[in-house]
Amino acid sequence: MGYQLKDRVVFITGASGGIGRACAVEYHRAGCRVVATARSYDKLAELSHELGEDRVFPIQLDVTDADQRAAALQKAREHFGGIDVLVNNAGGGSSVKGGIGGLEETTPEGFDAVYQLNVRVPFFTAQAAARVMAARGGGAICNIVSIDGVFPAPGEGLYGSAKAALVSLTSTLAIELGRHNIRVNAVAPSLIDTKLVARHLATDDQRTDRASFFPINRVGTAEDIAGAVIYLCSDEAGWTSGETLLVAGGQKAASDAIRWLRRVNPVPDGAKF
Ligand SMILES: NC(=O)c1ccc[n+]([C@@H]2O[C@H](COP(=O)([O-])OP(=O)(O)OC[C@H]3O[C@@H](n4cnc5c(N)ncnc54)[C@H](OP(=O)(O)O)[C@@H]3O)[C@@H](O)[C@H]2O)c1
Repeated sequence: MGYQLKDRVVFITGASGGIGRACAVEYHRAGCRVVATARSYDKLAELSHELGEDRVFPIQLDVTDADQRAAALQKAREHFGGIDVLVNNAGGGSSVKGGIGGLEETTPEGFDAVYQLNVRVPFFTAQAAARVMAARGGGAICNIVSIDGVFPAPGEGLYGSAKAALVSLTSTLAIELGRHNIRVNAVAPSLIDTKLVARHLATDDQRTDRASFFPINRVGTAEDIAGAVIYLCSDEAGWTSGETLLVAGGQKAASDAIRWLRRVNPVPDGAKF
């Protein structure tokens, strides 16, 4: 059975690559109309050309710019007549120095930039999109958080805490928006093979080492996450709201059994986490 999503209008942030792009491709496959946004307009235009310009509308958007966000949401409404689904995907550690790392590496500027991108932006994007959805009788929002926002992330505590804030907001927004027939959920990926984490997967040894942390002995793909996002925003998940779904190759189940996994999954000599 395919998901009930045909002709829905889906607004995705960070759709030029990685998880956001995979979501755009899968929503398009499900018969949706997609508003693909990111800073790299050329990549969005390419995607639109590849999938069909009548169904995929590219908009250049730096999500950290509030005026650009408002303009993009307005353009999406004018182009497709509304918004039914929001995927708050753009996020990550910041390119601002001091935005990723442990206690010693973190700077005030990095702190603000990480909270801006991962908390403030998805919160206010959800607020604006929810107004449009409420006027249409309902909708669905999916926030892309991280396993680091659910379990402690030593060395990346700032990023993890920002994602944890978004996990919390997922619950409160679900409560506040339920009366407008808007569901709010989150997907928390573990290690997904995208540009964001390329430095951790640069060599075969690193890949084998990282894969061994998952009972399904591989790292995740952007499509693994897109599948979960599409389900949560479909009518088939119509009574699911306020949830954070870990999509992590069985890592949660294995968290207490890591030594056992180290025995059954091969780890190359000299590889270290
Ligand atoms: N990969 C993982 O292992 C992993 C694990 C847990 C959670 N996540 C989360 O998953 C989400 C997507 O990550 P990814 O792995 O797909 O990363 P990615 O491959 O680096 O893609 C990030 C996307 O976000 C866009 N973006 C970044 N900053 C932006 C901004 N200021 N305005 C608009 N768009 C922006 C980028 O496009 P432009 O550069 O063109 O703007 C790109 O399309 C993030 O929220 C991340 O925290 C990823």
